[in-house]
Amino acid sequence: MAIQEQTKELVPGLAGVPAAESAISFIDGVAGVLAYRGYRIETLSEESTFEETAWLLLHGELPTRAELDAFRARLRGARDLPADVLAAIAAMPRGGHPMNAMQAGFALLGMTEPRPDLDDDGEKLQAIERLLAAAPVLVAAFQRARTGQPYVAPDPDLDTAGNFLWMINGEKPDELAARILDVALILHADHTMNASTFAARVVASTEADPYSVCSAAVGALHGPLHGGANERVLKQLSEIGGAENVGSWLEEKLASKSKVMGFGHRVYKVKDPRAHNIQALMRELFAKLGSTPIYDTALELERQMEARVGSKGIAPNVDYFSGIVYQKLGIPTDLFTPVFGIARTAGWLAHWREQMQDNKLFRPAQVYVGSPDRDYVPIDRR
Ligand code: SDX
Repeated sequence: MAIQEQTKELVPGLAGVPAAESAISFIDGVAGVLAYRGYRIETLSEESTFEETAWLLLHGELPTRAELDAFRARLRGARDLPADVLAAIAAMPRGGHPMNAMQAGFALLGMTEPRPDLDDDGEKLQAIERLLAAAPVLVAAFQRARTGQPYVAPDPDLDTAGNFLWMINGEKPDELAARILDVALILHADHTMNASTFAARVVASTEADPYSVCSAAVGALHGPLHGGANERVLKQLSEIGGAENVGSWLEEKLASKSKVMGFGHRVYKVKDPRAHNIQALMRELFAKLGSTPIYDTALELERQMEARVGSKGIAPNVDYFSGIVYQKLGIPTDLFTPVFGIARTAGWLAHWREQMQDNKLFRPAQVYVGSPDRDYVPIDRR
């Protein structure tokens, strides 16, 4: 007798189905709350740095000064890429999307690093720090290669955010720009059981190495319904062309049941708290560098979406304003999602570590709707 898989009620997209117990981050989708290890993101944005937040996500507590200094020093020492990885990145198809380069980059890195013993926390932490440190370097190395510019090695005096701007532009970043990107990385670092983190945990559950875990997670993040939305928001706002065109554009979009990029969320039924924080960053940037007309279009689209579908709980999510900030920081549009991935590498690895503490292979069931048993018919009789 064939072993029947338990056929329970199908839950599309596993909406609301717990996939793990986790202590890393918490969302209240109705109140619009996001907290990492019990600390609200508003507080962390004000008081913390991406490196300190990464430590918090990984270890569960804020670091002492000695712990943070040592962590930052180890990250500095773990940034450089081997020559053959740099050569492989330089040989990547220049027309390819940087998310594909990032995904391949993590896998490439895994080809040069020893597989950590999953029972040895020290080896796992070493791999985690290597991935965290190398993520921005992989992306920046591809950016330089695809634009025909010489590779810019990481600067040991800069942290993750500042180094990324240095490595893509070849110029030391403005302090405000580095701080704003640092806060953006904090805001994007973790977000409970989102699609790319779930992908990370599924691959982790097979006892794959952490390089493969991050590579798989990047593949999930790339999708336009997930991290890929931030890049599409900017294209969408450019397509609208101005606040005066929002009404007709939105009418057509909603009539065709198309998704408006940067809006809606599986959990939040109010404006994503990260969107509020990113708007605050924008105001700081605009005060210094002047506004961006596209922001006026974004505000008008937000107003009209609120009027049309706000009652359905469809509100701006993290991806709605982030692209405007990144554009102001001089980051190319198709690097917006890799920036999201650089931040989320901290979350994916915190979840990898948590999954390995009490691992069980993910192998869900299905509801079979295919053909019943039937006899094979030789081809000449079909
Ligand atoms: C991220 O999960 C995470 O935590 C993700 C993330 C993280 O930090 O990891 O927060 C980051 O991925 C943010 C989301 C970025 N994606 C987008 O901005 C793409 C546009 N958004 C939608 O595709 C959608 O809102 C989702 C995918 C984000 C969530 O969709 P759900 O929960 O699967 O809901 P659904 O698609 O079933 O929509 C429910 C209803 C539908 O209408 P009806 O069929 O009931 O009439 O709401 C409508 C949808 O048409 N709807 C939208 C909409 N989002 C939902 N209508 C227009 N525009 C939208 N954006």
